[in-house]
Amino acid sequence: MRYLIFAANWKMNIAPREAREYARAFLAAAGDLPEDRVVWFFPPAVSIEAVAQSIGGRENLLVGAQDIYWEPKGAFTGAISGQLAAQAGARAALIGHSERRHVFGETDEQTAKKVAAALAANLHPVLCVGETLAQREAGQTMDVVTRQLEAALAGHAGQARMTIAYEPVWAIGTGRNATPKDAADVHSAIRAWLMPRTGWMPILYGGSVNLKNVAELLAEPELDGVLVGGASLDPQAWAELVRTAVA
Ligand code: PGA
Repeated sequence: MRYLIFAANWKMNIAPREAREYARAFLAAAGDLPEDRVVWFFPPAVSIEAVAQSIGGRENLLVGAQDIYWEPKGAFTGAISGQLAAQAGARAALIGHSERRHVFGETDEQTAKKVAAALAANLHPVLCVGETLAQREAGQTMDVVTRQLEAALAGHAGQARMTIAYEPVWAIGTGRNATPKDAADVHSAIRAWLMPRTGWMPILYGGSVNLKNVAELLAEPELDGVLVGGASLDPQAWAELVRTAVA
């Protein structure tokens, strides 16, 4: 069976109280999800525990952190470690999201440390990669993506307990998404790169995915799911997207 992952990246939205209300509304609207799909929530750190408690032990739902710092604990004001996130209920962590890279200046070297830290804390890393518009137009998409993969995955040969999210920077929050074929082409190039090094991993697509375009994107067998920002913020709409994305 083809399993699909629907990952919701709430970014800097939805406080703990709202998160509990969101979870209630989502559970009511989603009903019993088909067993071929799982839903992952990435709330801001302050809401991880609220979401974890609200979704309980449901096997097809999971909560993760949007970012972690690589040290396990100590004098790092403002940072949270994998261990802290795990104790709040996180089971996964986004690593190297393009907003971390481009707004906060995160480097490939730092994403590599965060992947290692997530694995050490028993969190499933979701490594985000993707090129800017200038890089795409210069024909550098795969150079950039392989550089990001190489840096973050070096030292994890044979480690399949990870997920990759391909998110072209120019498609995030812009309403401009890659065509299904553009996405599938990059996914298959990523897969060809991964297979001899780390083995099979799910590869998600992200960037302006919404209720209207999700079915067309997921019709590409190269996509193992989607990572969704804006269109995941309303619980009913998100439940509908998850339920109706594939027949
Ligand atoms: P978007 O964000 O769906 O709002 O484009 C996706 C992401 O940044 O993960």
